[in-house]
Amino acid sequence: MDVIHSVADLRERLQREPNNVFVPTMGNLHAGHIQLISIAKPRASCTVVSIFVNRLQFGPQEDFERYPRTRESDFAQCRAAGVDVVFVPEEREIYPERQTFVVEPSDLQHILEGEARPKHFSGVATVVLKLFNMVRPHSAIFGKKDYQQYIVLRDMVRQFALPIEIIPAETVRAHDGLALSSRNQYLSPPHRAEAPRLYRVLCAMRDELVRGSRDIQRLELDGMAELARHGWRPDYIAVRRQADLQAVTAHDLRLVIVTAARLGGTRLIDNIEVELQD
Ligand code: PAF
Repeated sequence: MDVIHSVADLRERLQREPNNVFVPTMGNLHAGHIQLISIAKPRASCTVVSIFVNRLQFGPQEDFERYPRTRESDFAQCRAAGVDVVFVPEEREIYPERQTFVVEPSDLQHILEGEARPKHFSGVATVVLKLFNMVRPHSAIFGKKDYQQYIVLRDMVRQFALPIEIIPAETVRAHDGLALSSRNQYLSPPHRAEAPRLYRVLCAMRDELVRGSRDIQRLELDGMAELARHGWRPDYIAVRRQADLQAVTAHDLRLVIVTAARLGGTRLIDNIEVELQD
């Protein structure tokens, strides 16, 4: 496995590898990332993982400085998972000058996560576009846990006609249903015990929709109230269309329930897809 720090070395190494698949990460790898790598591996002769904590996608009050940085463990996991190239750039490699050109995912950046985290998706799309230009993969894998991020990047690739296939991967969960996330380690033991409720609330809402309930506003309010009763501060729970995360109409059958909620000082996100019968 090659560990590469500069864009120049990366380009040189990948010149020999026109057939590469890419898993961008911010490091602190866990089983969710390893699943992305295992989806990537059989698709190409070279699997590239990037590890870069991207300042541009963090708000001023967010956890950029304390975001867990665990390089040695990340490298060991990549090696064990059969990764060929790990790209770990310093910030000046990705942003050698102030980034004045940015990608603005117009419709999606002001709703849901975008409303709670202004500029987040612009930061994500901008760094991913840069990483795509550096790695030049034919495919890239993104977890559906960050559902809106997946939609933003899928649409970016389509609208800019980038020759890259975006492959979504199912969310990996702990035995009690909590979606794996680097931020779970911020949870205190009592909050870790409470955290699986987020997914249970989503499952209960999905079951009601599948049983025929269409009072979406009531479902959303009940879900928020259930979380609030147990000490959460929900930012949103919203039933949306899978295609574009806009409001559901009577004809939509493929839905997704997305949520973000705070437990103590930790903000967790999750989602569940819902397929309705005609
Ligand atoms: O999902 C992530 O870890 C990040 O948002 C990404 C895609 C690596 C961009 O920094």
